[in-house]
Amino acid sequence: MDARSVIAPLRLGREPSAEALAWFAQGLADGTISDAQAGAFAMGVCISGLGDEARAALTMAMRDSGDVLDWDLDAPVLDKHSTGGVGDCVSLVLAPALAACGVYVPMISGRGLGHTGGTLDKLEAIPGYNISPDADRFRQIVADVGCAIVSASSNMAPADKRLYAIRDVTATVESLDLICASILSKKLAAGLEGLVLDVKCGAGAFMKTQADAHELAKALVDTANAAGCKTTALVTSMAQPLAPNLGNALEIDSALQVLTGQAKGALYEITLDLGDALLGAAGIIEGREALAHALSSGVAAERFAHMTRELGGPVDLLENWQGLLPKAPIVRDVPAPEAGVVCAMDGEALGMAVVHLGGGRQLATDVVDPSVGLANVVRLGTKLSSGDPVCQVHAADEGTAQAAIKAVQAAISVGAAPCAEPLVLETIT
Ligand code: URA
Repeated sequence: MDARSVIAPLRLGREPSAEALAWFAQGLADGTISDAQAGAFAMGVCISGLGDEARAALTMAMRDSGDVLDWDLDAPVLDKHSTGGVGDCVSLVLAPALAACGVYVPMISGRGLGHTGGTLDKLEAIPGYNISPDADRFRQIVADVGCAIVSASSNMAPADKRLYAIRDVTATVESLDLICASILSKKLAAGLEGLVLDVKCGAGAFMKTQADAHELAKALVDTANAAGCKTTALVTSMAQPLAPNLGNALEIDSALQVLTGQAKGALYEITLDLGDALLGAAGIIEGREALAHALSSGVAAERFAHMTRELGGPVDLLENWQGLLPKAPIVRDVPAPEAGVVCAMDGEALGMAVVHLGGGRQLATDVVDPSVGLANVVRLGTKLSSGDPVCQVHAADEGTAQAAIKAVQAAISVGAAPCAEPLVLETIT
């Protein structure tokens, strides 16, 4: 086989065979494919597109380019993936809640991307939490606790690692086929039996329209099912942030509040919706009730604390998280510039305000400040008088705090009427 014989058909609008794609993925992983060839391949897929079969073949080839975990456990091995949103810390609540319901969750997570936060960055706000245990330790924690949230090992889906970096610099990130293969190759390498996808749509998501989110959700579901992983997708609204807090330590606080039964709201509701869909597809009935009980009884919180301890975190997280999490030195109210009802939020701008505070990266090499962000962000429909706080900015210094105040005021629109939208817009099986 020769790289040109895989790339040339794409140029002519034809699909490479499954064998050709498997060979190409292996070559991406072992370095026999050059950066130029990988870039030409990515552009070819971007322009010509792949059909359902070739997309599934590329996904499986990229999954098989490195280690694929298999499990011998006494209950289903399940997971969730979100396409990324603002204040989206569902994984921190859902993984331990699922574990408390008796299933296993080996969750391979990522870092922040663009304006969206990353689960690994959030977990690293917990003092001592090690996101990269060795493979044996990861397996042991999943078996003992029921869940472990960690980073991909260096040999999981290495073809994606290589291709993703090349897509990033060749304007080929925005291909439905490449996004599907990239997301799913990593998830499927974790040896899952079932997966639920949270495909976000709206101002705070990468997919701004429901039509685009539907198309991505359908492609992801079809591809994952073709690869043998029973998968459901919920298209969910990102018209406003999910959790009241945005930022790394601040989102750990939001997640712990839901885990310990001190808060409910959108984060709680969507956790139940996603978990119920996942458990239902695995043949476990009354999943919603079981998850709600896991949260109200404190069993899910215990699982989270146990996982955290096993990964090097503090022994007294549940008793003392407010004292343990890093705190920003400056906290300032953001006053509403006018009276009215909160009628729209630019979630991407709110996410970027957190990035500019230092809570995310502008360059890949940036070090994230775990303590900064926005707390107690108002919800759509909230009635405000002029000067009422719409949130608090947590900042490292006065300059960044003042810039964030301006950015938040510009991102929140106040008008006459609230716009209500359901959280779950569509379910795709
Ligand atoms: N996340 C991924 O892992 N890959 C993509 O291509 C897009 C989002």
